Amino acid sequence: MHKKIGCAVNSFDRKNRYWVMKSRPEGNNFSECLELREEEGLSFPEGTFITRNMYLSMDAGTRMYMTEREDSYQPPIPVGEKLMGTVLGEIIESKHPDFKAGQRLRSYGQWSDYSLVDPKSMYPSLVDDSEIELSNYIGIYGANGWTAYTGVIDTARAKAGDTFVVSAAAGCTGLLAGQIAKIAGCKVIGIAGTEEKCKLIRDNFGFDGAVNYKTENISERLGQLCPEGVNVYFDNVAGSTLDAVLENMAIFGVVAVCGLMENYGSVDRLPGPMNYDLVLMKRLRIEGFFSPDFYHREPEINPVLRKWDNQGLLSLPMQETKGLDQLVEAYSSLFEGTNVGKVFVKV
Ligand SMILES: NC(=O)c1ccc[n+]([C@@H]2O[C@H](COP(=O)([O-])OP(=O)(O)OC[C@H]3O[C@@H](n4cnc5c(N)ncnc54)[C@H](OP(=O)(O)O)[C@@H]3O)[C@@H](O)[C@H]2O)c1
Repeated sequence: MHKKIGCAVNSFDRKNRYWVMKSRPEGNNFSECLELREEEGLSFPEGTFITRNMYLSMDAGTRMYMTEREDSYQPPIPVGEKLMGTVLGEIIESKHPDFKAGQRLRSYGQWSDYSLVDPKSMYPSLVDDSEIELSNYIGIYGANGWTAYTGVIDTARAKAGDTFVVSAAAGCTGLLAGQIAKIAGCKVIGIAGTEEKCKLIRDNFGFDGAVNYKTENISERLGQLCPEGVNVYFDNVAGSTLDAVLENMAIFGVVAVCGLMENYGSVDRLPGPMNYDLVLMKRLRIEGFFSPDFYHREPEINPVLRKWDNQGLLSLPMQETKGLDQLVEAYSSLFEGTNVGKVFVKV
């Protein structure tokens, strides 16, 4: 399996398929810009290990580092580089004393058959899948779960009696955020892009109301659904939706800024909300939050999510795409809005 120079193993010789970004996407033209390639002899330095990838998490936020932006939360991926995200896999070769062959884990990794993981920068975390189906570690028990939890509880400080609005409400993060706000005792309204999604979040996930942002006037509809004003807006999309929600915020309300779906496909910066002046008029707090800042809280947050899951208060549809070669279809679904819940690829 290895090339050997004396005793030192210097490369990993299995065939490895991997996705690269051959040009920067514009809008959603991922099939033109992403390419599946193959290699042998992956370089394998001391202090790293190799995983056989089982599941690749598809996350909308990765769209940000496909752009040229230098001032984002992550440096841009250079054109021609392997694409990366969160992966679930099993260690098959290790040159790190703390990680052993056979262990299963979640970490950052390449969108590929095998990932080279440097634990110093790639957040590896061992997972126990004896009682929990492995893929849940990129669902409820992964970054989306922690993002929803910290966004609702810590950033928004949502409390019983609050009116809580979330956008991209039938997607992975939004669906979890809405359910957690419900557990906190809020009245929960979701904003989503189809009638089916609006019906689903009301009928199956306990939301109190829904707005179809593609067919309804968001501001007017929120005014009808939330006559008391919106105390918390969990913002997954920014742009014109944020402006419409700002018009409906209650005095001393909070906007927890989670993501920018309306802007990820654009090369231009967001011009900023038209209704910025309402931040003063309504004495609002607007605060962004970013999941890697609280990855270290996994041991604290996952037991809480587990308890809610066991009580039947939290659930997440898992939308699986089979085959590494089908990755573009899975990834595109996040931006075309054809997903419900968590999108992932089974390698
Ligand atoms: N801050 C953090 O640490 C953090 C961590 C994880 C995720 N996030 C953010 O959470 C958001 C959701 O990410 P996710 O990975 O969970 O994806 P997701 O919500 O499962 O999928 C994205 C959803 O966004 C909606 N959407 C797509 N284009 C849109 C547009 N132009 N305007 C409004 N809605 C649009 C689509 O649903 P519709 O049918 O409703 O359009 C789609 O289902 C993203 O903004 C992401 O960056 C942030």
